[in-house]
Amino acid sequence: MTTHIPDFSDPAGTFRLFCECLHKGVNEINHPYRFYYLGTIGLDNTPQIRTMILRGFDEAKRSIWFLTDIRSPKISEIRQNSTVSLLWYDNPSRVQVRATATATIHYQDKIAKDRWILSTATSRSIFAAEVAPSTPIEGIPKLTPEINADDDLAYSRFAVVDCVFSTLDVLILSIHGNQRAIIDQLDLPIPRLQRVQA
Ligand SMILES: Cc1cc2nc3c(=O)[nH]c(=O)nc-3n(C[C@H](O)[C@H](O)[C@H](O)COP(=O)(O)O)c2cc1C
Repeated sequence: MTTHIPDFSDPAGTFRLFCECLHKGVNEINHPYRFYYLGTIGLDNTPQIRTMILRGFDEAKRSIWFLTDIRSPKISEIRQNSTVSLLWYDNPSRVQVRATATATIHYQDKIAKDRWILSTATSRSIFAAEVAPSTPIEGIPKLTPEINADDDLAYSRFAVVDCVFSTLDVLILSIHGNQRAIIDQLDLPIPRLQRVQA
């Protein structure tokens, strides 16, 4: 992650480095971990992948979360299969981290409300869009709704999805030799780390 190369001889330290990158990704808009790719299984079994913004990270729960429109296809996909894949890649350090996670949708519950209150007016306005994501449209799409859009209506489309990761697949590309490890048992003080062929 970015400035350090993980040392696979230290499983706890390697996991710690990943956690530090996630904290930075939440707080620094230009950090390479700010954006990641979310993979789901489509309703017709076709793999689906898309770019997402890292909105939050709870280190104790090993959970990251994203904000999305409850009407979006990814919600139906997660309802059908809550196992998701998350992917980060940092080009300067040539480190890729792929995480397997279990997703939980929060809609009109305390977690959704708390995170709605914390979100900016600009973020909220996105959810005021009248037309549901992926709906076929004719011509040029309507501009993003105004920032002072109907807050209750926007909230009725707002969902938070928590993704608790269980396994990390860390790959480091290097001219000195590629390295790769699978890290699991993340709830233990020292996670289990297995080096694998890159
Ligand atoms: C840089 C970037 C960041 C994005 N962040 C989010 C996000 O945080 N939440 C979201 O729902 N969609 C986000 N999107 C849009 C998704 O990639 C995707 O196109 C959209 O959510 C529809 O996905 P779905 O049809 O699979 O549900 C982002 C797209 C880009 C290009």
